[in-house]
Amino acid sequence: MDETRLAARVANRKFEAEGIVSLELVSVDNRPLPAFSAGAHVDLYMGNGIMRQYSICNDPSERHRYLLGILKEPSSRGGSLFVHENLQVGTDVSVGLPRCNFPLEEAASKSVLIAGGIGITPMLAMAYRLARLGKSFHIHYCARSLDRVAFRDQLDDAPLAGSTHLHVDDGDPAQRFSFGDDIGLPEDDTHLYVCGPEGFINYIVEQSSLFGWSASQVHVEFFRAQAKSADGDHPISVTAARSGITVEVEAGRSIASVLLENGVDIAVACEQGICGTCVTSVLEGEPLHRDEYLSAVEKASNKLIMVCCSRAKTGSLVLDV
Ligand code: FES
Repeated sequence: MDETRLAARVANRKFEAEGIVSLELVSVDNRPLPAFSAGAHVDLYMGNGIMRQYSICNDPSERHRYLLGILKEPSSRGGSLFVHENLQVGTDVSVGLPRCNFPLEEAASKSVLIAGGIGITPMLAMAYRLARLGKSFHIHYCARSLDRVAFRDQLDDAPLAGSTHLHVDDGDPAQRFSFGDDIGLPEDDTHLYVCGPEGFINYIVEQSSLFGWSASQVHVEFFRAQAKSADGDHPISVTAARSGITVEVEAGRSIASVLLENGVDIAVACEQGICGTCVTSVLEGEPLHRDEYLSAVEKASNKLIMVCCSRAKTGSLVLDV
């Protein structure tokens, strides 16, 4: 097996809420798993050629398991649907090494974790970590109804119980989430973390800005790339410097797919600009970044590009592949 992947087995599977199951993955040889940090995710390779990324929800101090929470997406074409229908206790899977694009500011004195739906998954690991650090934290968990609230056992138990606030759309209006009432004005040395559907994240980010929170205090985790308009895309000439070839990438095609077609070895996983697998060095030209992976500073440097989704502002790019 590829050294960047681990052989794992489903040791437990549990119904958590309507449409949500949790899978507890352990190593096939019962050895400790690689450590992960709060907010980390793993790539789950399902054996049907599909890979999806899922946040790890258990306490990061645990080394014997990765606990994942998986929502069956109504439009699933083989990712979450495959998990729900095929991954049972005893099924062998392979997982990538944990990676974290959603790190905690552990030095902050207070953290507010705001989850919409399945966005609760990274927040659980963050809350366990904050509890171990003895830091103040609150979880605001918004769901459509109580039967869609997952991981109730953990949320109702120490160390999360006293810090969890549930907000359900079909409950008493007084308990529904309101940024003004539940979060309000910015506090020094406090960080907000948001994960959930795109509309939910956009709402929280917008509200946080209206209430005066600075962007550096607000951290966001998207489960999938935000839709980006491809209007105005132009063909690009892409040179793979080490491979010694130049290809034309038409509008509507990805740089990675055209390079792969022409025999250039590019590793690709999510194909949505969120996992970081396809990061490539830029030698010449200016990328048009469309990923969620690179930081603002990395994007501004124009030295890196995610070739699965980004394009170019210039007519050509020279890449170090
Ligand atoms: Fe995941 Fe490009 S393959 S970011």
